[in-house]
Order: sequence, then structure tokens, then C-alpha cells
Amino acid sequence: MKNILVTGGAGFIGSNFIKYILDREKDFRIVNLDKLTYAGNLRNLQSVEDNPNYKFYKGDICNKELVDYIISKEKIDTIVNFAAESHVDRSILSSNVFINTNVIGTNVLLEAAKNFKLERYLQISTDEVYGSLGANGKFSETTPLSPNSPYSASKASADLLTHAYFHTYNVPTIITRCSNNYGPYQFPEKLIPLMIINALNEKSLPVYGDGMNVRDWIYVEDHCEAIHLILTEGRSGEVYNIGASNEMPNIKIVKLILSYLRKDESLITFVKDRPGHDRRYAIDLSKIKTELGWKPKHSFEGAIHKTIDWYIENKSWWEEITSGDYQSYYRKWYIER
Ligand code: NAD
Ligand code: TYD
Repeated sequence: MKNILVTGGAGFIGSNFIKYILDREKDFRIVNLDKLTYAGNLRNLQSVEDNPNYKFYKGDICNKELVDYIISKEKIDTIVNFAAESHVDRSILSSNVFINTNVIGTNVLLEAAKNFKLERYLQISTDEVYGSLGANGKFSETTPLSPNSPYSASKASADLLTHAYFHTYNVPTIITRCSNNYGPYQFPEKLIPLMIINALNEKSLPVYGDGMNVRDWIYVEDHCEAIHLILTEGRSGEVYNIGASNEMPNIKIVKLILSYLRKDESLITFVKDRPGHDRRYAIDLSKIKTELGWKPKHSFEGAIHKTIDWYIENKSWWEEITSGDYQSYYRKWYIER
């Protein structure tokens, strides 16, 4: 039996990952530690609540006593750290919580991995640590780190700490850097769910700048599959990029969503650009392909339609989230621009 501590497992990718693993690995036990911030939602995990191989703790990864207690009580041998503040726009409004969770929290987990001599520490990072690309080229694992937002700077800091714990203390770490994810249970502050929900509500779709910023989109299940493989077959001390070779300007995605929902393009509103907005991200997949034989299974066309359908069918999930505080936060941010 493997005993895995998944942190941030009530968020978008973490909850998809937990369900992905419990469906496939009968001898993996998952302990989920999540603070349940605005982005964490236990409804994402309703289908595994009663699974004997799943257990939930509400708490903060910055809480060393709690982390140590869980590792010892649950006989944890592996940590997969998803816990993070994850939205660039929020990091522009206020960066403190990003430093606490993404940097200090990661350090608490690395210390625990060292002190408890864990078998594996997997840091879930992002391609945003590499900064922004011009019209050509792609990020490889050796591209220098050059983060541009408080969010990506905090994630890059966590990567550097992870690297240091491998080199200094031989903690068996691996870092994964994935491109932009989409799929079910993504919090509707990120581009794709925000646009789907606003379109369904016939509200305006705020496109930053000229809409020509490019992201490299991957379906969340492909990301989960790659993490699973890296967890079991990746090499300690390494970094693995993950992506789906699917570059797209934002405006193209927004129009595709409107067209699928048969809504009018007049809903699109070009708004003031995000400060420091990275122009283009693109992932070079050669390392994970050649070393681990992995490539994504989902086509963008099929998976984006599946994602839109999911939001249509799960209105109660996002209606709960888009009421109350979230609305006032969103209105503030939107009005400010
Ligand atoms: P998310 O914001 O949906 O979820 C984050 C989760 O972490 C939430 O459940 C939240 O409650 C929890 N959390 C936050 N602070 C915590 C703390 N101090 N202690 C314990 N739990 C805490 O994020 P996501 O999109 O699922 O991203 C997960 C990870 O993947 C992040 O590390 C992010 O940087 C990385 N990543 C995301 C993307 C993407 O496109 N979403 C792409 C590449 C990498
Ligand atoms: P986002 O989902 O916030 O991810 P990230 O900034 O981490 O890549 O944004 C994806 C792209 O969409 C990014 O170029 C910013 C843009 N965007 C908009 O144009 N309008 C929006 O309302 C949002 C949230 C994002």
C-alpha cells in the first residue's frame, strides 16, 4: 500500500487527480490536506467521500505541527503538492497569501519530506515560471526561470526550494511544469469556465488587451495521467514539462465557446490589459515523450466540448460558487479595469 499525502486536493486539478488515482490504483491510499480557501470545494470529491482509501483533513500546509502529525499518523510515504494560490489576477491585487502558501507552505512540506525520509516529493509547478515567449520557440526544462507575475514568482521560488532540497538533503523530489489546464471543476475565475458561465448567463465576456495572448491548453485528465506516470516512473531531481501542444490565442477560444453555445459575439468586451500580461506560453514535450513514452490522449476539440457540456450540466456547482463573496470580488476586479 502506498500512502500519499495530496495537498490542495479539493481544488480543480487536485480533485481530478484524486479521483483519477482512486479509479486506477487499488493499493494507493490518498490523504487529502486542504485549507478549503475560496478555491477549495468538497463537492468536487463527493464521489470518493466513502472510499476506504480516501481521507480528508481540513488544514493549512503552512502548519508544520499538523503536517508532521498527518505524516506520522497516516504513515505517509509520498507527498504530491497541489496546494497553492493559483490565480494571476488575484496575485496582482495582493501577493502576501501567495508567498505564504506557495513558498512558505512548500518549505514546510519539503522539511517534512526530509525529516520523515519520504520516498517521493512531487511539486506541481507551472510553465509560467519560465516567463513569456516571443512568436517562436518553446519552453524546455532547461529554459531559465523568468517569472513575471507575483503568482509565477512564488511558484518559481517553490521550484528553487524543491531543487535545493534534492541537492542539499537528497530528498527524492520531482518538479512537474504543466501548461494551462481546462476541464470539469475549474473555478470560474479562470478564462475558460468564466467565459462559459458568462456566456450561459448572457453576460459580457471580458477579453484582456487584444485577445491575442497565447496559452498552450491541456485537458485536466491528461495532466493527471502524466503526473501519475511521473510519480511512479520519474527520476528524482528531475523536472518534467507537461503539455498538449495546443497553442491558441484567447480570442479564438472565446469565439469557439460562443459558437458552441450559439451565443452572439457581441457579448465579447475587450477590457484593459492585465498588468505584466505574459504574451505566449508553449511547452516542449520531448523529455516526457522520449523518457517516459507519454503523450496526451485528448484532442482539444473533443475535450473543450465535453468541458462546456459539463458546465451546462452542473449549473448548481457553479451557481453556488458565483453567488455571495465571489460576485463582489469579481465585480471589484472587473470594474477596476
Ligand atoms: P485551485 O486554485 O483550483 O486549487 C488550489 C487548492 O489548494 C484549493 O483546494 C485550496 O483550498 C488549496 N489551498 C490553498 N492554499 C492552501 C493552504 N495554505 N493549505 C492547504 N491547501 C491550500 O488550483 P488548481 O488550478 O487546481 O492548481 C493546482 C496546482 O497546479 C497549483 O499548484 C498550480 O500552481 C498548479 N498548476 C495549475 C495550472 C492550471 O492551469 N490551473 C497549470 C499548471 C500548474
Ligand atoms: P487565466 O485563466 O487567468 O490563466 P493564466 O493567466 O494563468 O494563463 O488566463 C488565461 C488567459 O486568458 C490569459 O492570457 C489572460 C486571459 N484572460 C482574459 O482575457 N479574460 C479573463 O477574464 C481572464 C480570467 C483571463
